[in-house]
Amino acid sequence: MAIPRDFINELIARTDIVELIDHKVPLKKAGKNYSACCPFHSEKSPSFTVSQDKQFYHCFGCGAHGNAIDFVMEYDRLEFLDAIDELAGQHGLEVPREQGTGTRRDEGLSRDLYQLMEEASLYFQHQLKADTDKQKVVDYLEMRGLSDDVVKHFGIGFAPDSWDGLLSRYRSNQDAQDKLLTAGMVIAKDNGRRYDRFRDRLMFPIRDRRGRVIAFGGRVLGDGTPKYLNSPETPIFHKGNELYGLYELKQKHRDVDKILIVEGYMDVVALAQFGVDYAVASLGTSTTAEQLQLLLRNAHQVVCCYDGDNAGKDAAWRALETALPLLKPGDQIKFMFLPQGEDPDSMVRKIGKTAFEALIESAQNLADFLFDTLAQKYGTDKGNLAKQAIALIEKVQDTVLQNLLLENLAHKLGMNSGEDLKKKIGFNTKVSTQPLAKKGLKGRGTPLRLAIALLLQDPKVGFGLAVQPALKHIKMAGVDLLITLLDITRTQQLSSAQLLEEFRNKPEHGTLKKIAQWEHQVADANVLQEFKKSLIWLNNQYIEQRYQELSLKQTHTKEEKVQLSKLISIIKNARNTK
Ligand code: UTP
Ligand code: MN
Repeated sequence: MAIPRDFINELIARTDIVELIDHKVPLKKAGKNYSACCPFHSEKSPSFTVSQDKQFYHCFGCGAHGNAIDFVMEYDRLEFLDAIDELAGQHGLEVPREQGTGTRRDEGLSRDLYQLMEEASLYFQHQLKADTDKQKVVDYLEMRGLSDDVVKHFGIGFAPDSWDGLLSRYRSNQDAQDKLLTAGMVIAKDNGRRYDRFRDRLMFPIRDRRGRVIAFGGRVLGDGTPKYLNSPETPIFHKGNELYGLYELKQKHRDVDKILIVEGYMDVVALAQFGVDYAVASLGTSTTAEQLQLLLRNAHQVVCCYDGDNAGKDAAWRALETALPLLKPGDQIKFMFLPQGEDPDSMVRKIGKTAFEALIESAQNLADFLFDTLAQKYGTDKGNLAKQAIALIEKVQDTVLQNLLLENLAHKLGMNSGEDLKKKIGFNTKVSTQPLAKKGLKGRGTPLRLAIALLLQDPKVGFGLAVQPALKHIKMAGVDLLITLLDITRTQQLSSAQLLEEFRNKPEHGTLKKIAQWEHQVADANVLQEFKKSLIWLNNQYIEQRYQELSLKQTHTKEEKVQLSKLISIIKNARNTK
């Protein structure tokens, strides 16, 4: 693990899981806990609960459960390290990474690549002012109507008309030259000679969410081809995961309700210049699931903006298909189409901010776009329309949206209600494929299991507790786990969520997560007492076990004899007091 344990603990401690989840899935107070319809499976009545005490969530319907980190991983579909980055970002913390073994592979390389890309970006920006050709660039910027401010905000620069403008800056540094190759900034010919990839182009730096330059898009200053040249995929740039302008947007607004997704770099920049500073662009591909998720994590409404031609409609349809399975309760995706021959850049210049925003407001919602498109495609062929619609509706995970679409479809087909339609076609609203949560876990279980559960769910009962030497001699599955938990909680005051986090990459993690959710039925006021009782029971187990072992032996050492007589008196006493 490359991230210090303390940091992860701090992150969990700083995060309030109720607040975290409430942002994405509005929660209602229900007794001691909070509840909502589960975001991980479709349901009509809420079986998803969040405990403020335990800093845990748990769904009785599908069994999903975990702490804040698990939630971010599951809900935002992030890897562990990215979930940590995400949470840290929410608290404005920098994630420390431990040096030496176990650091993220190639981290050193990545660090150097980021550094080089930053240097390249600064160099290109400098050339805007210093290059011998700068007048033609200034003229071009003027012709495109870009203000100094917006050029600066987006870090736009110029790559000179030279084979080694960038490369020659690293003349005596072979290592840096190699890394420029890895970063996609230079190209190697068959004979090994290298040259700058970007020449005589206006340069748009592409930043990741942390503001690091990871790639460039370069535009010719006239009519050459290709019009835009983009960085290739590199160790730090995967174009399907990034969005142009997202970092710049977040610099302007910490929270936005709505993000507009457009097609081009110039569109993002021009819109920002005119005050529509909440647009991003996908990078020359159709919008990917990762990009949509990234957007929905930052805003609940995403408006996809396309040209009014057929290519634009096709792109919108692909985005719709990608979005259907991703939408969660509260998410909204809309579609807007510009008049033929216009793009957001030309449009906003023509009609200005207010009129452009009115266009955004009048964007089509998902249901309308879906049914309009199907109606155009199938006309009066209701059979095929229904078939296609149902195939799409089936992909929807959010029950509210799913039912809304079904209602809509029923109406289109001249039926009374979505329920009628469901019956007619035997449509089952998605229900969890997992059986009812953890039947096997009901009841009090063994005292050992109870001890583990109580300690895990309420780690303070272990704090300051005396060492229990007998435990390690007990031959009982699960005792090792209790010992480990006691060792951790004896000296640290951890929350349940933090304690569980200690086990993330260990084989016990799965078991512990289940036990953490187990309803042990012990009232809060009795937890400590019950926990101590379980420990006494375990100690008694040891005594019985040791007595059995010793009494079965033919001969005894001196110590064993002493121990045996002690054990006998303990057991006698215990039996007398029962
Ligand atoms: P457009 O051709 O619509 O460009 O490409 P644009 O953004 O309107 O640019 P201007 O106004 O002509 O300067 C949209 C996007 O498609 C990708 C780029 O990401 C561009 O921003 N693209 C386009 C390329 O990657 N390569 C190309 O040759 C053209
Ligand atoms: Mn354009």
